[in-house]
Amino acid sequence: MTLIEEMGHATYGVRDLEHAVEFFRDVCQLEVSERRPDTVFLTGDNRHHWVRLDRRDTPGLLRLGYRAVDAAAIDEVAARLDRLGVAHRRRDDLAGDRVTGALRFQAPDGVEYEIYEQMLTLPASPAPARGIACLLHAVIFVPDVAAARAFYTEALGMLVSDRIEEVITFLRCGNEYHHSLAVARGQAGTLDHIAMLVEDIEDVLRFRAHGALTGSLAGDVVKHVASNSVSVYLSDQIEGIGVEYCNGHDRIADQSYGGRLIKAGPTTVNAWAGGFAARPEPGPGRAVPPGHGGGTAAGDAASHGAPDDNEPADTAEPSSVELSSVES
Ligand SMILES: [Fe+2]
Repeated sequence: MTLIEEMGHATYGVRDLEHAVEFFRDVCQLEVSERRPDTVFLTGDNRHHWVRLDRRDTPGLLRLGYRAVDAAAIDEVAARLDRLGVAHRRRDDLAGDRVTGALRFQAPDGVEYEIYEQMLTLPASPAPARGIACLLHAVIFVPDVAAARAFYTEALGMLVSDRIEEVITFLRCGNEYHHSLAVARGQAGTLDHIAMLVEDIEDVLRFRAHGALTGSLAGDVVKHVASNSVSVYLSDQIEGIGVEYCNGHDRIADQSYGGRLIKAGPTTVNAWAGGFAARPEPGPGRAVPPGHGGGTAAGDAASHGAPDDNEPADTAEPSSVELSSVES
């Protein structure tokens, strides 16, 4: 039973509000849709916001927003949370939140969610045309991937797309994209990155170039095995924000698809990590640094989730957003 249609927004606490606005506007190419003294909303289309920035003393994820398929679905989520013993509260503050019918709760992994019915629609998108199609997904860290997988499937009706051992699980919603949420093994309640879908591979490359020019590029372009997407990551080290731009993200229309259980390793995170296979002719193949997928800390986890043929086992836990190689 589909309850959640899509990811709607991410809300960050940031110490330097203007710096964070500049990152999302000038680097990420979103545009401000509403500004208050301590809160700024930004969007990439005619939905009121994809990102909300709240001034805080401590930076970090405050909330993830997901749009429910309808009001009845929100009632169903509330009933499921009751059965799971998870506290929740209703909220209907259009003037403050810019969404209606909100249900807020904190998941057992520590992440707060806002499941809502509708978001304000703007007359037109204020954002420049940069080939950005939509806000696609969030990747969060959880202490227990199996437990998180059970919670999000039971409470929100999300479907499992693929798993990389017990390091990352990808979960999809009604819009059928390979994942609207991924849970990666790491420090509970933290966000690795959000992702935006772009329309063409050239858009990925252009964001790569823009990231290099602005000092925001976090690794090279990668090819993810699980979602089949080609991605690049930009980051803001001051506020610890990571943003992925990806193209070619698979959609899964078959609701019965339960996903693959994929071996962790660098060529899972980045199919191109091994380079071309060496030819049998003389001449050494170029050595590729093991474990480098280019992207985020969640990708580092997936690169090292299990011993690989070409590298020693390394089960170091990711501890923060450091953008160096990812999943999706
Ligand atoms: Fe991603």
